[in-house]
Order: sequence, then structure tokens, then C-alpha cells
Amino acid sequence: MLGPGRGGGPGVYAEWLAGLGYRVHLLDPVARHVEEALAHASFTAALGDARHLEAGNASYDAVLLMGPLYHLTERADRLRALGEARRVVVPGGRVIAVGISRFASLLDGLRSGWLNDARFRAMVDHDLATGQHRNPAPDEHPEWFTTAYLHHPFELRASLRMRVWRSRPSWPLKDQAGSSPAATQLRSSKQRGSRARAQPARRNRSPDGYCSSPQLNR
Ligand SMILES: C[S@@+](CC[C@H](N)C(=O)[O-])C[C@H]1O[C@@H](n2cnc3c(N)ncnc32)[C@H](O)[C@@H]1O
Repeated sequence: MLGPGRGGGPGVYAEWLAGLGYRVHLLDPVARHVEEALAHASFTAALGDARHLEAGNASYDAVLLMGPLYHLTERADRLRALGEARRVVVPGGRVIAVGISRFASLLDGLRSGWLNDARFRAMVDHDLATGQHRNPAPDEHPEWFTTAYLHHPFELRASLRMRVWRSRPSWPLKDQAGSSPAATQLRSSKQRGSRARAQPARRNRSPDGYCSSPQLNR
């Protein structure tokens, strides 16, 4: 069974996954989203909150967090949601968590020309400084997105390490000799007398593609 799509919305991804043959259960705290999801009939759906799951320990093969990490503006709540995902997934299972990049509104502003608006610029400044995204004109500009938390990519990785990877890293932090692949590469590069060349290599080995795919507001 594929785990709950938390933050499932009306079920776009859930329907796709169900079509691939997975058994999917979607959770969302918004009744209208759950009603729309249930109309698909190819998966189950229920009201629920990623911070408090009713599922038992190790009861799903995979958990997808497709919304809570950016809708929960308090760090403790985001960590609770990650901890719950970790709790209900089987050993060796997968937790897939989506965040919105700290740089999303800046990139959106550059793309759309919204940076010419002083209110938008002030919002971007606040986003970049704090990650706390607040639309100053939600009625006039709903396209500036709603209240959200925008992660710095390193921060998202740190949260995953704290709550999800803690006892079971999902990528090889250590090589067989007991040191990290990045450290090994840096060391051997130093031995060749070229520390500078090691830096791009370290980034390339990063498993999480920092900054590579901000979920832009549309
Ligand atoms: C922007 S929508 C994304 C929907 C869908 N996953 C997608 O990518 O198209 C985020 C969803 O997260 C849900 N959400 C917000 N807070 C949540 C929470 N604490 N637990 C579970 N879902 C939550 C919202 O109700 C909303 O449906």
C-alpha cells in the first residue's frame, strides 16, 4: 500500500499514483478537497492532519507530504508532521516531502514583473529574511500565493535529517570506510593538491538538488 498523500488537495497526484497500480489513501484537512478527491473513486480519502495521524506505526510503504511543510508556518508543527510520516512508514519505506523554496517569490517576481510593485518587493524581502510568506493583498492579488512557510533548501534537509533520516539515512551519508562520500572526494582532491576542484564535485553529489526546482506560485 502506498501511504497517505498528506496535503493531498483534490487528488491530482493520488489519481496518477492509483492509475499506476498503487493503493493510495489521501488525507487533507479541507473538507472540499476531500470531497473532490473522493469523486475520483480510484483511491480512498479522508479528513486528516499531517501532524496527528491515526495510522499505526509502520503501516505504509511510502508517505508523501505534498503541502503541510509549506502550509504549516510553525517549525514545531512541520517537525511534528515529518515525525508522524516517519512513524507510520515501514522500515525501508519512503517519505517524500515537498517544500516551497525560500527563493520562490523572488523568482516569481522576476518572471512576472511583479517586483515593480513595492508591496510585492517588501513581501519578497520578508520571505528571503524569514521564510514567512504573507500576501499583503490577497483579495487583489491571490496569485501572490497564500500564507506559507518557504524553506531554505539546507533547512529542509536539516529537518529531514532530524525527523526522518535520524536512524535510517535514506542516502549513503557514509561510505564503507566510514566517512562521507563528499569528505572522501574532498580528501582525495586535496591529496592531488586541488581543493578548489572538489567544491563543484561536492555539490554534484548532493542528493537533494538544492535550489534546483522551486515550486513556483502559479
Ligand atoms: C497547495 S495544495 C497542494 C495539493 C496537491 N498536493 C498538489 O500538489 O497539487 C496543499 C494542500 O495541503 C493541505 N494541507 C494544509 N495543511 C495541512 C496539514 N496540516 N495536514 C495535511 N494537509 C494539509 C491543504 O489543505 C492543501 O490541500
